[in-house]
Amino acid sequence: MNNLRNKAISILQANDRGGYTVPTTSGLYPAQWNWDSCLVALGFAEYDEVRAWTEIETLFLGQWPDGMVPHIIFHGDDSSYFPNSAVWQGGPDKRSSGITQPPVAATVVRYLTNRFGIEQSRQHLEVLLPKLLKWHRWFYTARDPSGTGMAAIIHPWESGMDNSPIWDAALAAVPPGPSVAGMRKDTGFADVAVRPTSAEYDRYINLVITYRDADYDADKLFELAPFRVCDVGFNSILLRANKDLRFLLELTGDSAGVSDVDGMIEKSRAAIDACWDDTDQFYYSRNSLTGELIKKPGIAGLLPLYSDDSVASRHPELISRMKSWLAAVEVGVPSFEPGRPEFESKRYWRGPVWLVVNWMLLDGLKNNGYSELAESIRRSSVDIVAKSGFHEYFDPLSGEGLGGTDFSWTAAMVLFLSGMND
Ligand code: DGY
Repeated sequence: MNNLRNKAISILQANDRGGYTVPTTSGLYPAQWNWDSCLVALGFAEYDEVRAWTEIETLFLGQWPDGMVPHIIFHGDDSSYFPNSAVWQGGPDKRSSGITQPPVAATVVRYLTNRFGIEQSRQHLEVLLPKLLKWHRWFYTARDPSGTGMAAIIHPWESGMDNSPIWDAALAAVPPGPSVAGMRKDTGFADVAVRPTSAEYDRYINLVITYRDADYDADKLFELAPFRVCDVGFNSILLRANKDLRFLLELTGDSAGVSDVDGMIEKSRAAIDACWDDTDQFYYSRNSLTGELIKKPGIAGLLPLYSDDSVASRHPELISRMKSWLAAVEVGVPSFEPGRPEFESKRYWRGPVWLVVNWMLLDGLKNNGYSELAESIRRSSVDIVAKSGFHEYFDPLSGEGLGGTDFSWTAAMVLFLSGMND
């Protein structure tokens, strides 16, 4: 175990660019990614308290004046990435993307505070809590102007689960725009067979250009977005983050903030409950443009476990369903239901296993009273890295490591998860 932990630390050190971490040594992602950075801080927390806080604080230096925290902050040479800062031109300094990513920051900040103690953490909380509150408020205004309780995502990249089959129909309805196949850089670093397709990329980039041309004006984007989905996974992460933010605001005596976040929690909880489909016994996302429920069983539909500790008792079928997924694979948890026609064991979010989602699920399982199942996911998550290396994601059928190598969030999860019990 010590060897694996030492290797994980050396990967984080190699990917450290001074104040922020790139996701991989391989050059695939030469910038700071939002949820990668936050989750990487959980790894730094295992051996370097100051560095853990810095990772989050650097991310929030890129927060936009309206409160949004972009999904990518470009700090240095980004010429090996497409679309880079010259394409996005987001933010006051044109050094960020123009969309966001799953808001895990408040959850990580709560973890760091618990781990290092309130006195040590106070100076960081003074900086971060107002920024977190501003970001969370932004979700309930810019992305939910009519107050439904579900914050919409307007790009599959915002979900973090870029090419999940859940987005297929909603993305197919987006005009492809000019072909960008020749501009892609990702396939120079990872096998084309494990990345999103060029048909998907053409639409991803068309969305980028559409939003850039509208000056990323949040008031306009919600209405003009050709892709608009209420993602049950994203909103579960937001609900959980709200609960963690509420805890921190209470700890620091911000009662106005607490009552603000209470309103957000109440709205999100009711809206996520309404995503439960009684017929299929699963949580589904909804296409916000057509109003249709998206009946695709992806891992996002398991994430309500992470945000609410009463889910398993209300819907025990969800646990049986997860167990049936695990029984069908060598290594879990697959990102899409095995056996479905859309399931692809090697292609990014259409089947592969991602350790960061494993952590969310095992944390949710523990809180829902399923400690044994949680423990088996924790162990197999660490074991797969010991066997296959620090890859970006893993084939659930064979255990093969895929995508970027020496991956920061995989290293962070190994440190974090192995620190729990071993
Ligand atoms: C990529 O480039 O594949 C990223 O996931 C987009 O954020």
